[in-house]
Amino acid sequence: MAAHKISELTIRRPDDWHLHLRDGAMLQAVLPETARHFDRAIVMPNLVPPVITGADARAYRARIEAALPKGAAFKPLMTLYLTEDTDPDDVAAAFADGTATAVKLYPAGATTNSASGVQDFEKVRTVLDRMAEIGMPLCVHGEVTHSDVDIFDREAVFIEKVLKPIRKKTPDLKIVMEHITTQDAVDYVRDNHRNLAATITTHHLIINRNHILVGGIRPHYYCLPVAKRERHRIALVEAAVSGDKRFFLGTDSAPHTDANKIQTCGCAGVFSATNTMSCLAEVFATAGKLKKLEAFTSLNGPLFYGLPPNSATMTLRRGAPVDYPKQIETEDGPVTVFNPGFPLHWHVDP
Ligand code: DOR
Ligand code: ZN
Repeated sequence: MAAHKISELTIRRPDDWHLHLRDGAMLQAVLPETARHFDRAIVMPNLVPPVITGADARAYRARIEAALPKGAAFKPLMTLYLTEDTDPDDVAAAFADGTATAVKLYPAGATTNSASGVQDFEKVRTVLDRMAEIGMPLCVHGEVTHSDVDIFDREAVFIEKVLKPIRKKTPDLKIVMEHITTQDAVDYVRDNHRNLAATITTHHLIINRNHILVGGIRPHYYCLPVAKRERHRIALVEAAVSGDKRFFLGTDSAPHTDANKIQTCGCAGVFSATNTMSCLAEVFATAGKLKKLEAFTSLNGPLFYGLPPNSATMTLRRGAPVDYPKQIETEDGPVTVFNPGFPLHWHVDP
């Protein structure tokens, strides 16, 4: 049957290879939204204070597990926040005993709670060498932070100025370029086969920079890296639906209360955990590539991380538009759910 005629699709349960769960009341409210559809997620460490050591990650994982709805099969895969003082022995021990799955590199100042990130990449060289030795992946927020680099160019400049030198010095290091937003990043991953992959978010497959700025400013579409021109969005869709094993889903679902989004200086982040699978089914169906959805959400990520795909399945069925909530209530205030701007016909049966 042609892909666009498919009205039901069963896939292995998906994983989210880039997710912000926060802590406290926010964690309690958003975790069920992810656990409903996803079996595993790479959990970002940019709390205040950040999750830096193996001990920090164990404590945070315990808080996540305590916040899980009863019976949820969800498994958090923890990351360590790389600082210039990170101890390579602590990282290696956390990887060896299963505490941490990856290390996260934030260039200092790149995004939410990234002040403790890396300024001088030479200072983390011993950690990167050690990770390459033990096969531990590095998840990278790929944007330079210099004030003289235009915000729309920061990813492309990062590839030239930071990523290429790191990969040249440490070719054995496994790197995930996270939440890529440009044709440049797609091309770089496609042209470099060894130890390199990229995650793509749901919202970057759907919005371009016009959605943020035309006809009024839309704070709920503002995230980092910021969405780029339409030609970049198209490149991301092509990469996602291609089935190429080096591209997989990382939603970067990043909850902020509406009060913190709608501000003179609003926070960066799009919260898409609730409706991501329905959004993706629309994107893949529109491209006539529904049959590639499973590779993107459920197979390519585990392959890169050296983990088995989930054995349980999920069925997506096309019908009348799904009535997803517009907001999730939290004790800190409402969090707005990503609005793709079109009806979501794909229902998810976990
Ligand atoms: O939009 C974003 N929000 N990008 C990031 O890199 C961080 C995230 C957050 O933590 O809110
Ligand atoms: Zn993120």
